[in-house]
Formats: sequence, structure tokens, C-alpha cells
Amino acid sequence: MTNVAAHPTADELAPPTPSIDRAASRRAYDEDRAHVFHSWSAQGSLTPMVVAAAQGSWLWDGDGNRFLDFSSQLVNTNIGHQHPRVVAAIQEQAARLCTIAPQHANEARSEAARLITQLAPVGLDHVFFTNGGAEAVENAVRMARLHTGRRKVLSRYRSYHGHTQAAIHLTGDPRRWPNDSGAEGVVHFVGPFLYRSQFHATTEAEESERALAHLTHLVEMEGPATIAAIILETIPGTAGIMPPPPGYLAGVRALCDRHGIMLILDEVMAGFGRTGAWFARDHFDGGVTPDLIAFAKGVNSGYVPLGGVVLSNAIHETFRERVYPGGLTYSGHPLACAAAVATISAMRDEGIVDNARRVGQDVLGPGLRELATRHPVIGEVRGLGVFWALELVADRGTRAPLVPYNASGAAAGPMNDLVAACKRRGLLPFVNMNRLHVVPPCTVTVDEARLGLRLLADAFGEVFGS
Ligand SMILES: Cc1ncc(COP(=O)(O)O)c(C=O)c1O
Repeated sequence: MTNVAAHPTADELAPPTPSIDRAASRRAYDEDRAHVFHSWSAQGSLTPMVVAAAQGSWLWDGDGNRFLDFSSQLVNTNIGHQHPRVVAAIQEQAARLCTIAPQHANEARSEAARLITQLAPVGLDHVFFTNGGAEAVENAVRMARLHTGRRKVLSRYRSYHGHTQAAIHLTGDPRRWPNDSGAEGVVHFVGPFLYRSQFHATTEAEESERALAHLTHLVEMEGPATIAAIILETIPGTAGIMPPPPGYLAGVRALCDRHGIMLILDEVMAGFGRTGAWFARDHFDGGVTPDLIAFAKGVNSGYVPLGGVVLSNAIHETFRERVYPGGLTYSGHPLACAAAVATISAMRDEGIVDNARRVGQDVLGPGLRELATRHPVIGEVRGLGVFWALELVADRGTRAPLVPYNASGAAAGPMNDLVAACKRRGLLPFVNMNRLHVVPPCTVTVDEARLGLRLLADAFGEVFGS
């Protein structure tokens, strides 16, 4: 018999269902299909879910169906939905000062910058605010190019850096292909990924050493004095949540130092608590210090669009007398910055980063590894904090991906079936190619995480047999 106390149900864990106006939701759907043009999609085949309400780790669709949000939307609602302190901060800021031009100073922006630089490594004391992650990457690259007087930038395959001109060229996934003009001065390299090692490595140490040797060779062949920056997602996110092996980030830092190359860490997805640390870089090799950090998403959980670049004091010095040729009308927008101040403060006061670390260590990691023992379709479980990937394979021996790289439509059938099975059980997952990512908010409770694992196990049972 089920031990109810040890296994609370969704009804027991979820907040009360809010009242939902179904007619308004139907209208929202119809008007969406009539007038909204969606990202990264062929418009004809879309059937977007109407989200009518959300609270903490939960959301409700337009028919009042409830979902446990194991996607954090686009891996950004680190503090959960509708955190009362963040909502109140936005309301208070709106009542006081909704907007102000970037050339002026204001309290919310100054305080957000102070808090963010406090979390960054020593020697990175200034923030340039943007509206999101792509613009953060765009400006980090622009700063690196102007600071070094060089143009070329190196980035890895299996990465995503955003949709704008430089960012999409840096991206190492198929979203770049239709956008690639070949004219952005980007050279791609192979980063460490032991499960699918391109270096015939069998251990993390070998993968680290060989991936570094490959990058070193590439830098030498490209001409070190032509390279402005190397950019890395500290932990590649959408591309597969592959934590770097020991020594890799330190090795890239040393390579950059040898040649005067700027190291840009893209912490847009991995930052602000997702990995159980403020920045993912805190976990590896004693905390490697980059020259620039790109951030967005979790900085204020996307309640109001915000991103930015934290830059080293040396780069800041370059622009002490020289004009920085970049800017945005909404740089450091007061509503977004007030949301960031409240988010960072609440995360600190409520131990939310530590919660993410513990839930990963005690519940998600062990639970997902246990799931893998029962389902050979799970080739590998990777991650930390509330940042996990299940690599699904057709054959554990060959490691052939369950669906082809960049599969869509019928070719992605088993992944689509898995998503549908999760949703039927009230679980909203994040899926990319042959991977299911388990990425709930950093505020997810132990009971919610356990419930999500049970729903996931049920869905695996339905789709792949048990
Ligand atoms: C690592 C990384 N960098 C950059 C971006 C782009 O951010 P945005 O969509 O806010 O422009 C993303 C978005 O998913 C990301 O995951």
C-alpha cells in the first residue's frame, strides 16, 4: 500500500487551482494563431499551450489543467513563478519610476549592478545591462574585439549563444545553419563531451587533456594574435548539459593568458543558482576567472527582460577615455533591475541556491540514476543542481541517439511521445533532440522533485515499457 505521508500527491503539493476564464483562454489561442509569429517555428503547424496562471513550480493551462513545471519555461524561472517579493518589487518600482533613459543613474540599476558584481569573481566590478542573453553575448564579443584589437572569436560545437548576428554565428547547434553567412570571424572547435568523445577518450582526464590539445592546436593554426576571444557556456545548456571535466576550464584560461585572448563565459542559462552555485564557474578548477561573463535568465527569472555583461577592470579601463560604441534605450531598465535586486535578495535570504544544490545532490541525481537502471533507453545521466540531462539512446552499446541529430516531426517520434506522456501526467518537461532535460526552478521542494521523478518514471514506463 502507498505510504501517503512519504509520497504526497500533486493535489497535496500544488497551490489551490486559480479561477480560470476558459473563454478568455480560447480567445487568446485564436488570436495567437491569427496574429502572433512565434520563434524558431514553421508557423502553420503550431498549437501553443495557453498558460493562464502559474505559481511556484506549477502552472495551469487555459482549460485549468495543472502542470509541474520541470522546464522552468526556457530554463529561466529559477526563483519559480510569481515569487511574491519579486512581484512586489516590480509593482513598487512601477508606481515610483517605470522607465528612465540609460544615460541617467537610478537606484534600481545601481543596486542591481552592485549585487551582481558582488557575486562575480574579484576584478570584475562593472556591469553593462542588456535586454537578454543574446545582446549580452553580442556586447561581450564587441568589448573583447575592441579591447584586443583583434576580430576572430572561437566557440564550441554543441553550444547556444543567442539569435543575434554575432551570437547566432557563435552558436554550435543547427539554429546557426540557416543564419550562417560565414562572415562573422567565428571558428568552431570541439569541446569536451566524454559520452560522445571525438578524441577516443575513455576517462574524464583524457577527454580534458585531449580537448585542450585540440583547442591549443586550433589556436596555433588560426594565429593566436588574430583571436580576440574564446567563448564557452560554462556548462553547455540546451546543447546537452555537459559539465566540463576537471582541468578543462583552467586549461582554456591558461591558453588565453598565453596569447592575450579574452575568455568569455556564457552563464546565461547556467548562472544564478541553476547549478547550485551563483555562477556555474564556481564549481570547476577552483573557480576560473573569465574576462567577461554574459548573464540573463535567472538574474531576475525573466519576470522583466534583462541580461548583461560583467566585465573585467582591465576591459573597463580600455573604455575609460575611449567611447564604448554600443548602447540600448532600455539598458538597465528600472523594472527589470528592481526585479533583479528582489530576486538576488530573496534567493540569498531564502537559501534558494543551496536548495538547488541539495535537491540535485539528494533527490534528482540519485532518482534519475535509479531511473536509468530500469530503462536502457537512458544512455547517460548528467548534471548538477537543478540542471540535468537524460541522453536517450537506441542502443546503449553503440550509444546511437534515440532520434537523429536535429530530428523534427515524425523523425522525432519517440521524443514527442515522451513529452505527450509527461504532459498527460501533469509534468511539463524540456526536450531537445534526443535529450530530456530535468530543469525545475531552484525553489523546487524535495517533495515536488520526488513527485516529478515519479511522473517521469510513469511516462518512461508508458513509452518505453518497464
Ligand atoms: C547559454 C545561452 N546563451 C545565450 C542565450 C540567449 O539568450 P536570450 O534568449 O535571452 O537572448 C541563451 C538562451 O537560451 C542561452 O541558453
